[in-house]
Amino acid sequence: MAKPRVIVTRRWHGDVEQLLVDRFDTRLNEDDHPMSTAELQRALQNADAVLPTVSDKIDAEVLGVDNIRAKILGSNGVGFNHIDLEAAKAAGLVVTNTPEVLTDCTADLAMALLLAVARRVGEGERHLRAGEWTGWRPTHMMGTSVTGKTLGLIGMGRIARAVAARAAHGFNMKIIFHDPFPPRAEDLAGLDAIACESPQEVFERADFVSLHCPGGKETYHLIGPEAFKSMKPGAFLINSARGDVIDEAALVEALGAGEIAGAGLDVFEKEPQVTPALLKMENVVLLPHLGSATQETRKAMGMRVVENIEAFFNGETPRDRLV
Ligand code: DGY
Repeated sequence: MAKPRVIVTRRWHGDVEQLLVDRFDTRLNEDDHPMSTAELQRALQNADAVLPTVSDKIDAEVLGVDNIRAKILGSNGVGFNHIDLEAAKAAGLVVTNTPEVLTDCTADLAMALLLAVARRVGEGERHLRAGEWTGWRPTHMMGTSVTGKTLGLIGMGRIARAVAARAAHGFNMKIIFHDPFPPRAEDLAGLDAIACESPQEVFERADFVSLHCPGGKETYHLIGPEAFKSMKPGAFLINSARGDVIDEAALVEALGAGEIAGAGLDVFEKEPQVTPALLKMENVVLLPHLGSATQETRKAMGMRVVENIEAFFNGETPRDRLV
């Protein structure tokens, strides 16, 4: 029997690409260019499985194309706000993602952002590389201590809990959180985490607010002017979730007005564009969406996609089926 045809929209970890080539009739995106709407539509018309990632916009327009051959979208990434799930379902597609395998890696990066912005790591490195360092002195580049402070988490899923564990056990931080769908008590074991009634309560009480909610309509601009006014003037905002949870223009205003002390951002409202004013601010740490970017994790994510599509083509339900 002919092998299912698989189109991969971007370059993936080499070991995963090799496995895909061995097991399927695989078409790789050799030059790693971002695919246009028309290319994504052609992929849906010409493959049994399309393997997109979080930067491919699989919206109703893409999915509205005629004569779709694909039966499954095996997305490489845990977030799925780039896919219109209703439109995918209507087009007869199964959709899968890659939860769990990137939890630790993303939590590590959230902590890296938190530490970097509080301790002025980016700013200090820029200062040194620019040849501006004149030597140690007691008042030089004083930052903000992390140990013992209150960490407020918006969303308390797997990644938030992994951040909480690092913060509580590594930095003796107090953990508070808000999640409209709170985790089971056993998932919070050992964290001493306090549930807050509203995001507002988290904003008011936290020294560091870290975002771990999904992107999409429900959370669009959740962090806007009102949130910034509620946060402590010395507080820091960390985002390793989705860019459009923050109103970036309001963030710039809040930073400029001193409503918060700084921000550590791995994701942006209009990726890969970044609001230009942020690039000029020293109290902001900016990373190019690196949450899951380690060799080990990117390989594990790709392997999870392979597992999902193999299950599908074997007539089983893929473990990470979304629709
Ligand atoms: C995801 O998986 O959703 C991240 O944003 C990329 O790892």
